[in-house]
Amino acid sequence: MKKKCSKESRVIRTSRVFPNDVNNHNTLFGGNLMSDVDMAASISAARHARCGCVTASTDSVDFLSPITLSDSVCFESYVSWTGKSSMEVFVKIIAEDLRSGNRRIAATAFLTFVALDDSGRATEVPRVVPETEEEIKLFETGEERARERKKRRLKSKELADYVTTDKPW
Ligand SMILES: CC(C)(COP(=O)(O)OP(=O)(O)OC[C@H]1O[C@@H](n2cnc3c(N)ncnc32)[C@H](O)[C@@H]1OP(=O)(O)O)[C@@H](O)C(=O)NCCC(=O)NCCS
Repeated sequence: MKKKCSKESRVIRTSRVFPNDVNNHNTLFGGNLMSDVDMAASISAARHARCGCVTASTDSVDFLSPITLSDSVCFESYVSWTGKSSMEVFVKIIAEDLRSGNRRIAATAFLTFVALDDSGRATEVPRVVPETEEEIKLFETGEERARERKKRRLKSKELADYVTTDKPW
């Protein structure tokens, strides 16, 4: 079985916050942040699997601290746990006050991607090998998160059977 270290899938992207990126509280608009989270995470998944990957789920994006116009925002993502064909990608968003240099975790997120072969079927991915303390901690707790996702997916399927596709007019 092929193996890859988390660092091989690491993506780091830093940008400034401009006035057209903020909401009416002058803090970064959540929708923009979520789009950048998905972008970074999808590159991490593709670097790990080196084949087509789709987003299967996003657990949650936890907004821990607002990001303002005087901050830079850094997205760091890497594959933190692997199943057979699925990859959990962890994304941390670090805001840095550009005047003081203070850095803080502004948000964190876990996304799951599934690797697909050329005919669109789920295909095996290399096992991930964690190295740093943070990577090891996330790896060791990954199985439990994957179990919770399976339960949630079943509930979503039940809900999908129940909700209507009727036109509302
Ligand atoms: C994700 C998808 C490929 C799964 O296909 P499937 O045939 O149902 O796959 P399986 O049930 O065999 O599961 C394959 C793997 O995906 C994982 N998986 C499937 N749905 C999942 C979900 N919602 N969350 C987390 N993992 C999921 C399974 O646990 C399994 O993992 P493993 O191989 O590591 O054990 C399919 O549901 C799909 O194409 N969804 C739409 C994806 C998409 O359009 N994304 C873009 C969103 S804008």
